[in-house]
Amino acid sequence: MSPGGLSLRALLILGLCHSGRRSLASAPKGQPGRIAVVGAGIGGSATAFYLRQEFGAGVKIDVFEPGAVGGRLATVKIGDHEYETGGSVIHPLNLHMKHFIEKLGIPPRKDVPSKMAIFDGKELTFEESNWFIVNFLRLLWRYGLHFLRMQMWVESVLDKFMRIYQYQQYGYSFSTVERLLHAMGGDGFLTLMNQTLEETMMAEGFSQVFINDIVAPITRVNYGQSVRINGFVGAVSLAGADSGLWAVDGGNRRVCSGLLYHSKSELISARVTSISVKVRPSKTGAAASFYEVNYVGESGSAHSLYDIVVIATPLHQGKSDISFSGFSPTIPTHYPGRYHQTVSTLVHGVLNVSYLGSSEPASEFTVSDVLTTDSKGSAINSLSSIDPVHVPQGYSRPPASHAKVWKVFSPQPLSQEQLRHMFLSWEVASETRWLAYPSYRPPHRKTPPFILHNRLYYLNAVEWAASAMEMSAIAARNVALLAHHRWHGEKKKVDQEDLHTRLRGEL
Ligand SMILES: Cc1cc2nc3c(=O)[nH]c(=O)nc-3n(C[C@H](O)[C@H](O)[C@H](O)COP(=O)(O)OP(=O)(O)OC[C@H]3O[C@@H](n4cnc5c(N)ncnc54)[C@H](O)[C@@H]3O)c2cc1C
Ligand SMILES: *[C@@H]1O[C@H](CO)[C@@H](O)[C@H](O)[C@H]1NC(C)=O
Ligand SMILES: *[C@@H]1O[C@H](CO)[C@@H](O)[C@H](O)[C@H]1NC(C)=O
Repeated sequence: MSPGGLSLRALLILGLCHSGRRSLASAPKGQPGRIAVVGAGIGGSATAFYLRQEFGAGVKIDVFEPGAVGGRLATVKIGDHEYETGGSVIHPLNLHMKHFIEKLGIPPRKDVPSKMAIFDGKELTFEESNWFIVNFLRLLWRYGLHFLRMQMWVESVLDKFMRIYQYQQYGYSFSTVERLLHAMGGDGFLTLMNQTLEETMMAEGFSQVFINDIVAPITRVNYGQSVRINGFVGAVSLAGADSGLWAVDGGNRRVCSGLLYHSKSELISARVTSISVKVRPSKTGAAASFYEVNYVGESGSAHSLYDIVVIATPLHQGKSDISFSGFSPTIPTHYPGRYHQTVSTLVHGVLNVSYLGSSEPASEFTVSDVLTTDSKGSAINSLSSIDPVHVPQGYSRPPASHAKVWKVFSPQPLSQEQLRHMFLSWEVASETRWLAYPSYRPPHRKTPPFILHNRLYYLNAVEWAASAMEMSAIAARNVALLAHHRWHGEKKKVDQEDLHTRLRGEL
């Protein structure tokens, strides 16, 4: 290497250091030393992954989780196989989830064709045929072009939704859920969030009959709630009825453990009980503030100091009980609004097809997903024949005459009597009571912010727009970007308006 080259390099390095120091002027110090993430569901583990990406190898990342890694992504074992009890399907355009499995080298689960029907509490009012054209004609006959128009409406929402990936690619982040939605879909998205799906669709010209017969069964299976959920989560729900849905081979929760491993963070098996602000003198003499995270694990209680903390669990009744002290303005342990209960019961047994009012012989009954309308008669939200998280070679879904695994979603636990009615016989019935997703009651007052305090962030605020794996992943990347930009005082990457028009030229 020539001396000339060396000095040029030295100059460059000096120059870089200089401009580097300038941009750090408003930052607390060079790099954060320690970051805590509270919760190891898909939100927390994706946060650890993106924090590592943003802050590099130097920072220590601790992830607190008292339960199983995965949170609402969980499986139970029935016989020789495992089955999803919580979050199960992923949309083909959920790009972060797709990116995760590619990065981790986990394949998607092998696809088994499914067949849908709708049950009104007495009989099946719609049964999908194996022939696309037959389904199309049936729907056309009954609902005119509403079905096609619904797909177009969902697609138009999805088109705007997809903008978030470009913004995040360029490093842009948002301080609130409202600003994030506004950046994607302008005032239209805020309106979606503030009115019911029913109101939204009526305004778009959909008939009440179509909404009751087709839309309600979809919101019931996906969110256990009626068409009076907000329009945004409603659109997410309808997108969840698209084709091409996928899941992770071996169980969706594998993504969480994979991301934690990949992020080289430390998993601490403990429940966080409180977080407070502490001011300590630093090496340079100036006072610095830290967050003290108090936690209880198997070996008792302990506490540690962190520069940045991300809460990745809902701050709601029944979901977590973290107290915040020394903050002004105060941060509540529980924000207003509650989480909706969905009971997931996995039954290994033989279905009573007459329960569905079907006169087909059970050996010919091949419907896999039974959705339900919002009628007094239906105690259940849905009934699905489900496949193991790893689909064995040569597997095909057996007809209803065989004992197989069914998943029932219901708002209340199923009684023995209800089970006896629905199944001719069963060996196992495994119940999981989830506080599954927010109970959506628009108009929504105010969504909690992503920023609770200077360097304290809250991921699950995003669930009030819509709760889904991809929403948590998007919020995770957003929070990691926010944490990075705010640490380094890069205001230009936070809450920018008109990103869509500004970035168009850069494509
Ligand atoms: C039955 C059901 C079906 C669903 N279906 C789908 C679907 O098909 N597709 C889809 O995309 N989404 C679905 N969802 C929603 C999806 O599962 C959630 O949106 C997503 O998993 C939320 O992830 P998260 O990491 O944000 O929260 P969580 O998974 O709830 O993770 C939070 C974690 O924080 C931990 N924690 C709580 N308190 C503390 C504390 N004090 N200290 C430390 N840790 C704490 C919890 O133990 C938990 O592991 C479904 C959900 C349910 C329940
Ligand atoms: C939603 O509506 C409520 C009351 O109607 C209003 O206070 C709030 O500002 C609205 N929020 C948004 C994001 O439009
Ligand atoms: C199956 O369902 C039908 C219709 O609801 C009911 O009359 C019958 O008793 C059920 N069978 C069993 C064995 O419970």
